[in-house]
Amino acid sequence: MHHFSYNDGRLFAEDVGIEALAGEFGTPFYVYSEATLRRHFRVFADAFAGADVLVAYSVKANPNIAVLSTLASEGAGADVVSGGELQRALRAGIAPDKIVFSGIGKTRDEMTAALEAGIYQFNVESGPELLALGEIAAALKKTAPVALRINPDIAAGGHEKISTGKAENKFGVPWSQARGLYLAAREMPGIEVKGVDVHIGSQIADLAPFEAAFKKVATLIADLRADGSTIDRLDLGGGLGIPYGEGATPPHPDAYAQMIKRVTKPLGVQLIFEPGRMIAGNAGILVSRVLYVKEGDERRFLIIDAAMNDLIRPALYDAYHDIIPVIKHADRDSAIFDVVGPICETSDRFAQARRLPELKAGELVAVMSAGAYGASQTSEYNSRPLIPEILVSGARHAIIRRRPCFEDMISYEQMPDWLS
Ligand code: LLP
Repeated sequence: MHHFSYNDGRLFAEDVGIEALAGEFGTPFYVYSEATLRRHFRVFADAFAGADVLVAYSVKANPNIAVLSTLASEGAGADVVSGGELQRALRAGIAPDKIVFSGIGKTRDEMTAALEAGIYQFNVESGPELLALGEIAAALKKTAPVALRINPDIAAGGHEKISTGKAENKFGVPWSQARGLYLAAREMPGIEVKGVDVHIGSQIADLAPFEAAFKKVATLIADLRADGSTIDRLDLGGGLGIPYGEGATPPHPDAYAQMIKRVTKPLGVQLIFEPGRMIAGNAGILVSRVLYVKEGDERRFLIIDAAMNDLIRPALYDAYHDIIPVIKHADRDSAIFDVVGPICETSDRFAQARRLPELKAGELVAVMSAGAYGASQTSEYNSRPLIPEILVSGARHAIIRRRPCFEDMISYEQMPDWLS
């Protein structure tokens, strides 16, 4: 469910017309619906109502401060993976005791900043990382609350590039080492073991791999308790998929929650979740203008002014995104197009052989479901400036990231003295 819909053949974000935004800000741009962000957060949190749960929104999905502060006002915590994300979460008003820090390569500076902020939990992914964290915490005369992220060796995820739970993946403590590392952790100064963490991948469209992984982790918790460890928390990561208009329909959060309650109830632990895509994905669209309609010998190309630097998911993961016209003309025929951007790479393609209305140069299109891993994965490749982000709330709209000018874009660069 989202709040992007047609009214009289014209696309709206809540009560704001997309055409008007394009006129005001120019294209391309992202637009997010605040009502959708709030709704998705509530659907997820309500699915676990009554249980002891922390929903720590995965900042990487969409780290804009306005998005974070919208979610903070709903009670969201944050799952961060860098010092920058930690600062964003704090700046947006997310309390440190609702922040978990994930990732396999935390630097000493990042660990120090998180310890000083007093975050809720470090999700630690290896022995060497645990040693470093313990040393830093002890030197600061602090104790780091820790869950070890376990690699359950279970395949899941919408694409091999976003699958994380197999033994061959770089993530998590190998299953065979988990018990031993927990025993060692108990002896380490600066470390306090609190729980277990698992995250098996992203855009997961069925419950089976989640259930298999969570059941496996439940057996580990029993073993750890038998070894004398206190395990009060279980972080189940993110990964719940969303509908992209094609492929399998992912389970509703209610079904996900029911399965989890069934598997975890006997454990008596606090549950932590790190949803990203499920909150932000369908709360955002990318709006772009058709530059040219090019008739190739074998294909018709719709060349739009957005490109892979603005939304890399189709190029990187062959991801499907619905593409729809901002103005629907009832009398238009449809045709088959490749929808491409201006960048000098064949992979700069949003859709291949897609049936769309006969769009014309100058008309607007919306690339749907672009709120997660859209703006957060942008670059300035081909010296294309980052594109603006706009937040809509009812009939109001505000720019929440402006379009940089050329001077902004080169402001980090400088001439060596022998050239100037
Ligand atoms: N927790 C951890 C430890 C993660 O690595 C991730 C995502 C999440 C939570 C949030 O997962 P979600 O609920 O959003 O599935 N750029 C890719 C997705 C990469 C996911 C990386 N980790 C894409 O556009 O599909």
